[in-house]
Amino acid sequence: MKKLVIGNLKMNLLSPQERERYLEFLSKELQGKKLKNTEIVVCPPFVHIESFVKSVGKKVRIGSQNIFWEEKGAYTGETSPVMLKNIKAQYAIIGHSERRRYFGETNETINLKLKSALRAGLTPIFCVGETKEEKGMDMTMDVIVRQIQEGLKDISRVLIEKIVIVYEPVWAVGSDVIPTSNEIMGAKLLIRKILTEKYGAKYVEKIRVIYGGSVNAKWAKQVCVDPEMDGVLVGRESLVPHEFVKIASIING
Ligand code: PGA
Repeated sequence: MKKLVIGNLKMNLLSPQERERYLEFLSKELQGKKLKNTEIVVCPPFVHIESFVKSVGKKVRIGSQNIFWEEKGAYTGETSPVMLKNIKAQYAIIGHSERRRYFGETNETINLKLKSALRAGLTPIFCVGETKEEKGMDMTMDVIVRQIQEGLKDISRVLIEKIVIVYEPVWAVGSDVIPTSNEIMGAKLLIRKILTEKYGAKYVEKIRVIYGGSVNAKWAKQVCVDPEMDGVLVGRESLVPHEFVKIASIING
């Protein structure tokens, strides 16, 4: 199974000029690199998705940072998963902690979004993880169990293997604090255990459980030796194509 390196560009690249510069640098960095064991995904803001598909869509896969759960209709300001699929996006980040925090997303709405992404044929990148307060209260396991169980409610065995799960502790996002390898491993084992109990080992073995939160090249070097390492979700460092592709090369091995 290929490893995944996903870049979440968040609300950046403010002009067409900035976007073009980014794309030019990304293409240059990717040139001549054979990353056979790795799939690279970049998730730009909605307005740049088509340009990304056209420019680098042959080398990397493109995803969105959010979707709405309905396909079409009177939902001012929302973006349909079908629209994204039709412009050749392949992935969608769902349930990112910034969406939970600033836009009131709940396990329930995240569940609707996961189902609609799957219906539309997008691969959901489903983010889970505890806040600093929850960690302080020793609630990490409870939070993850609830987020996974409620988030995956009514999602069938056949579809589950399409989902990518990201363990992204909220306190590690944008902070330069990275959990220890044991903490990451513990969370990943827990996620696999919940999935196995719910769906059976056969259906979950292909699911990629990756890590996100302050990922950089130096850290990637330390963890890439871990055979359980399915991949990473990269925020800030994905805005610098040189660093992003460096992380991908390290993860690729
Ligand atoms: P960060 O962001 O790498 O800047 O911490 C990760 C994310 O929010 O996905």
